[in-house]
Amino acid sequence: MGEAPSQTGNRAKHVAIIMDGNGRWAKRKHLPRAMGHKRGVEAVRALIRSVEPMGLDCLTLYAFSSENWKRPEDEVDDLMDLMRKFIKSDLPEFIANDVRLKIIGDWQGLAPDIVKSLEDALEKTSGGSRTLAVALNYGSQQEIARAAAKAAAIGEVTEASITAHLDTNDLPPLDLLIRTSGEVRLSNFLLWQCAYAEMLFVDTLWPDFTPEHLQTALDDFAIRERRFGGR
Ligand code: FPP
Repeated sequence: MGEAPSQTGNRAKHVAIIMDGNGRWAKRKHLPRAMGHKRGVEAVRALIRSVEPMGLDCLTLYAFSSENWKRPEDEVDDLMDLMRKFIKSDLPEFIANDVRLKIIGDWQGLAPDIVKSLEDALEKTSGGSRTLAVALNYGSQQEIARAAAKAAAIGEVTEASITAHLDTNDLPPLDLLIRTSGEVRLSNFLLWQCAYAEMLFVDTLWPDFTPEHLQTALDDFAIRERRFGGR
């Protein structure tokens, strides 16, 4: 990927992605579902490498939802194993590339060894200038409820206070939400943060989503007129 294009329009700083379609990708190729998730991780890796050249401050990825526990046990195990390997194998690259890892969701409820390696990765990447936020055991309604409870505890149930207590409180405002695989719904992802985000739904299945697809999405975002309720 080359330099970010010089564009006169909006520059997206924070992009979030619902990575959907791993299972269908595998099915179309007559491969096991696990292979779809494995190729999904490779797509994640390529995309993370494009964050800096594309001038993004933050990329947020929906990796495991609080509802994904309902999947068959072997699939959940596969996803957790991929997560374990990903954190271990990619941590040196995050550190070398100045990427700060951030986790949103109820991740303390994951397996103790994953929690431990995440804590280690968070600490070692804390000085990074660009953020990769990964949603793990994440549900947006649960996140809003937790934030509202904290806001209520200090007697300040306001928009600003709830925003300040969300898991995303140290991330830039969300500019663009992308969902792959042709599905058009939010699936309990960043509901509060999407209030003024632009949305893009693409047919590409997640393992086929490349940095070039992201660049096309950013170019599309650049020419959109954002009104934030005004005119
Ligand atoms: C949706 O595809 C994808 C998921 C539930 C998991 C997304 C996870 C990854 C891409 C890999 C792990 C991520 C990281 C950051 C290491 P689906 O299985 O629902 O596909 P389908 O709708 O076609 O069945």
